[in-house]
Amino acid sequence: MTLILGIETSCDETAASVVADGCVVRSNVIASQHELHREYGGVVPEIASRAHLERIVPVVERGLGQAGVGFDEIDAVAVGNRPGLIGSLMVGVSAAKAMAWSAGKPLIGVDHVRAHLYAAALRDAGAGGDVQGGEGSGLAYPVVGLVVSGGHTRLYEVAGPTRMRLLGKTIDDAVGEAYDKAAVILQLGYPGGPNLDRAAQRGDATKYDLPRSLLGKGSLDFSFSGLKTALLYKVRGTPRGRGQRAVFERSADELTDEQRVDLAAAFQGAAIDTLMIKLGRAIDQLVEQDRAPGGIVIGGGVSANSLLRRRVAELGERRGLAVHIPGMAYCLDNAAMIAGLAYHDLRAGRCDGLDLPVIATTGV
Ligand code: KG4
Ligand code: ZN
Repeated sequence: MTLILGIETSCDETAASVVADGCVVRSNVIASQHELHREYGGVVPEIASRAHLERIVPVVERGLGQAGVGFDEIDAVAVGNRPGLIGSLMVGVSAAKAMAWSAGKPLIGVDHVRAHLYAAALRDAGAGGDVQGGEGSGLAYPVVGLVVSGGHTRLYEVAGPTRMRLLGKTIDDAVGEAYDKAAVILQLGYPGGPNLDRAAQRGDATKYDLPRSLLGKGSLDFSFSGLKTALLYKVRGTPRGRGQRAVFERSADELTDEQRVDLAAAFQGAAIDTLMIKLGRAIDQLVEQDRAPGGIVIGGGVSANSLLRRRVAELGERRGLAVHIPGMAYCLDNAAMIAGLAYHDLRAGRCDGLDLPVIATTGV
């Protein structure tokens, strides 16, 4: 059995996990910083890195403790080293380097976006279940992959855990970022995405008409800034003036609860429709190119979304494709996806040196 300790600090969650053979999660510890950032309505990078610094050692200790393994039993230390906030990444990467060096264990840097696409392969220790696809991965490749997070909205053709080709990405906001901004517009509180999802489930999506931005006819890119602005205008009316000086007709305080949840539902309908249309397009294009995928995989914070999970499952059924959706514990940022994916690098002999850099952008 191969045990990998994973560490993740790319944004505002300090996380550690031990994963066996690339898919069986023995522990998954996540220390969220939501309370620290709530009053600012978003993640403050400097506060995030300081909080990581305070938490990283206890979080790793809990990760090992809950897995019931000693550090000497670990085969490698894996860490998310890109993409993310540089100050935050630096804390996890420095800790991982120190641990790997002091114990003479291999160090593996993992791309966070790639790890989100692997999260659906993870299962809880003791949960059983079939593992198809072999090599420690429950995914039956090739699949079409959709990463939907606070920082990324990307479509991939995925040939294996570490082999993927970018098909399209957002040209402005990521879908999670659009959710967070829409929640601010609707005064739904922080963190925005889950709050908006909950509000949307109480609303009627047909009461308001919001745009689906599809870009060019065959485009697999995404755009969400128009949707966000359309929502703002629906809530506050058409502004006079631009930018900081814009004066709106009304305030969001004037919304009734019913209007608020109906607007949330309309936003959710438009955002998820857009994702589904592009996902369908990507599958069509791959089929036309004789590269038909056998399944669909989604990952990233927005894969926790109730409507997206349902629509992806329906699409898979309609098209006869296997559907791989991460368990709720593995949608948001976590270290299990880092440790799980690193297993494939370790097996392929791809390890890093102590010069492993931190990088703000994804490499895939
Ligand atoms: O993957 P993640 O934890 O962090 C990044 O890598 O960015 O994703 C966080 C994003 C946030 O924008 C959050 O609002 C969104 O995922 N999110 C959701 C839901 N849960 C989290 N968006 C829509 N519906 C949800 N249920
Ligand atoms: Zn993420």
